[in-house]
Amino acid sequence: MKKSTVKKLTALFVSLLLVFGLASCGGNGDSEESTVVPSSENTSEAASKSGGAGTGKTLVVYYSATGNTEEVAGFIAKATNGDTFELVPKEPYSDDDLNWTDDKSRVVREHENPDERDIELTKTTVDDWESYDTVFIGYPIWWGIAAWPVDGFVKANDFTGKNVIPFCTSASSGLGDSGKLLEDQAGTGNWMEGERFSSGVSETEVQAWVNGLNL
Ligand SMILES: Cc1cc2nc3c(=O)[nH]c(=O)nc-3n(C[C@H](O)[C@H](O)[C@H](O)COP(=O)(O)O)c2cc1C
Repeated sequence: MKKSTVKKLTALFVSLLLVFGLASCGGNGDSEESTVVPSSENTSEAASKSGGAGTGKTLVVYYSATGNTEEVAGFIAKATNGDTFELVPKEPYSDDDLNWTDDKSRVVREHENPDERDIELTKTTVDDWESYDTVFIGYPIWWGIAAWPVDGFVKANDFTGKNVIPFCTSASSGLGDSGKLLEDQAGTGNWMEGERFSSGVSETEVQAWVNGLNL
C-alpha cells in the first residue's frame, strides 16, 4: 500500500472515531436531558390528574392567638396529609393585648379603628405556593369576623386555581360573613363555604368534616 493511501485511511479512521465518539457523548447528554421533566410539565401533568392547578397538595394556613385554631389546623393537616403554615404577627398579641374587656387594650383599639388592623406578619409567602391546590385558612372569630392578622396573608397571595376553605374557632359565634370578607380581600381563588368549630372541638369532629369535603 502506498504511503499516501495509508495516510488517507488513517485520517478516515481517526475522523470516524471522532464522529462516533462525539455522537455517543451527545447521546449521553441528550438522554440525561430527556429524563429531567421540567417542573412546569410536572405541574400540568399533576393538575390534569387532580383537576386543580398544582400537584394535589394541601396547605393549612392559620392564625391562632391562644391555641384553639392551631389545634384544629393540626387536625385538618393530619386528616389531609397537608402542610401547615402559621401566620405570626411581627408584634405578637400578649394576654393584655387580647383583653376585649379592657377599653384600652390593643385589640379593642384595633377593633374600633379599622385602619389600625393592618397587622404586619413575619412571613406572607409560602415556599412552593404553586404546588398547593387546596388551601385551608383558619382563624379565631373576633367580634364576629376573622381575626385581622389573616387579612395580610390573603391580600398578599394569588389564589388563582386553588380551592380555598375557610375555617374558624369561636366561643359561640358562627362563621358568618368571615369567609366571604376574606374572599373579597383576596380577589382570586375558588372559595368554599367553610366551617366554624367550637373552641375545644374534638379531632373526630374535625376529621368527619374533612372527610365530608371529598377532597
Ligand atoms: C379579641 C377577641 C374577640 C373575640 N370575639 C368573639 C366573638 O365575637 N364571638 C365568639 O364567639 N368568640 C369570640 N372570641 C373568642 C375566640 O373566637 C375563641 O376563643 C377562639 O377559639 C380563639 O381562637 P385561638 O385560640 O386560635 O386564638 C373572641 C376572642 C378574642 C380574644
